[in-house]
Amino acid sequence: MRGEVREAAEQEKGGQNRRSALCGKDRLIAALDVDDLGRYKELVRTLSGAVGGFKVGMRLYYRVGPEALAFLRGMAPVIFADLKLHDIPSTVGGGVRALVAHGATLINVHAAGGKDMMRAAREAAAAEADRLGVTPPKLVAVTVLTSLDEEALANQIGIREPLQARVIAWARMAQECGLDGVVASSLEAAAIRKACGPGFVIITPGIRMPGSHAGDQRRVATPAHAVREGADYIVVGRPVVEAEDPARAVKEIVDSLE
Ligand code: C5P
Repeated sequence: MRGEVREAAEQEKGGQNRRSALCGKDRLIAALDVDDLGRYKELVRTLSGAVGGFKVGMRLYYRVGPEALAFLRGMAPVIFADLKLHDIPSTVGGGVRALVAHGATLINVHAAGGKDMMRAAREAAAAEADRLGVTPPKLVAVTVLTSLDEEALANQIGIREPLQARVIAWARMAQECGLDGVVASSLEAAAIRKACGPGFVIITPGIRMPGSHAGDQRRVATPAHAVREGADYIVVGRPVVEAEDPARAVKEIVDSLE
């Protein structure tokens, strides 16, 4: 599925209706993928109070560093450091400790880093939170990137099994290692929910409003579809950041969830 996003109704495949205490606004995490700290701060100020969280990714973090996270304190309930850590266990543990100290409340690592790496991340998050006297962050595993489809997974990455089976296997592995949840596409959300239960956090990027452009994302769905399928949070970047009026774009997304 490239280019145009199919209508949510078309994408429904008998998905379960899952109710949760989170309201539409709480579920939306804005991915502020910009290069400039000034533009970033302007977006945060504009959207603070209208979203459940902000996400800082490598594009901004590698440019401005921890200041990007520090600025988010008090601006939204969820402060997501989306740096997708993937290295040997001790290095990832050290990275996680730093992100906890910088104020992240949600951190991700790649499930492909393996069990020892995920356990090291979990232990580091707990130990650093304990040392600082703060609530431990949620730690989630990135499964298969939403920019990959099954053909790319097989022919580029060399994983020759149904994409959904790989996502579920990594979700189960993350849960076994004590992680709080996963990042996956909404097309796999219902199956993850079934495999990992109601308390497991599911975060879905690859979100587009009906008829909008998918860009480099391959496994996309609408906000309403993602939530119907069991997503706790949806991550939305370009549809908000590149909108003429980001506050209006956020409102449209939140309205579509309610
Ligand atoms: O602009 P768009 O809405 O496609 O942005 C999606 C965001 O979610 C980006 O910041 C991207 O890095 C992130 N993400 C993703 N797929 C994953 C994990 C994170 O697109 N599997």
